Amino acid sequence: MPTPFNQSVIDEFRAHGGRVGGPFEGGDLLLLTTTGARTGKEHTTPLGYVRDGDLLLVVGSNLGSPHHPDWYHNVLARPAVRVELGTEEFQAIAVPAEGERRDRLFARVVAADAGYGDYQARTGRTLPVVVLERPAHEADIPEEAANFADKMVQVHLWLRGQLRHVRAETDAHFAALAAHRGPGAPPAPGLGLQIRQHCLAFCDALEFHHTSEDAHLFPTMAGYHPELRDTFDRLAEEHRTVARIQRGLAELLGGIDGADPERFRAELARMSAELTAHLDYEEEALLPILAALPWPPGPPRD
Ligand SMILES: [Fe+2]
Ligand SMILES: [Fe+2]
Repeated sequence: MPTPFNQSVIDEFRAHGGRVGGPFEGGDLLLLTTTGARTGKEHTTPLGYVRDGDLLLVVGSNLGSPHHPDWYHNVLARPAVRVELGTEEFQAIAVPAEGERRDRLFARVVAADAGYGDYQARTGRTLPVVVLERPAHEADIPEEAANFADKMVQVHLWLRGQLRHVRAETDAHFAALAAHRGPGAPPAPGLGLQIRQHCLAFCDALEFHHTSEDAHLFPTMAGYHPELRDTFDRLAEEHRTVARIQRGLAELLGGIDGADPERFRAELARMSAELTAHLDYEEEALLPILAALPWPPGPPRD
């Protein structure tokens, strides 16, 4: 639960299109909604933000206290967040910056608002700088959906795009490792938070999608189409296979110190092969039927 003070800021923000008075008058404020690392419940926090070019940055300052704020622990466990900014609201992936990039971005933050420098001076911990990213490939996904088939294709496009993105980042990571061989400073071990956060966000979205297919879509459709029984059995089995790989990926990424990159890359390739085949088959088998069901679902008709 937000504190009464935070709740009043949230209420004022939402009532006035993102503008808040009092101590925040004229400041840049957004609302960040995270999912509790332990509870799975949503938490909304008002946060100051700084823009650096296209980047939207927030800082885990916690007013200079010795502990990271709760929202920071939440985004490490569940990187998919919701952002309210002015009158806009969008999904984003929270990616803490690391190393030299973090220091560079923090310098930009302090240049925009010196108060963050004071918070940093008050605490021994390095204040996290978190980039709130809107997934780049989302531009390719049509916004409108006229029926259930369009809706399924939207979600599948998101999943395919996110997986492609994580694989491209992982390949780039390996290329950077290879380029560092020989004399000079050794490459940083592990995969880095960027790949980790993108992969966890993908896994969460995938799990959510398959859980809702298993619990709602497939049983409902199976009731109307008993002839597709074998198809639904096969799709459910594929979900279980994909879920096993997904759990393996999440386990590899469990700590924030980084997974074994070679194992991670092999598991990611397996995920890509299994999931692509699954999505292709599901679309081939179900889209023709789903295209006849209007979206959004209306009240039942006689
Ligand atoms: Fe699906
Ligand atoms: Fe599926």
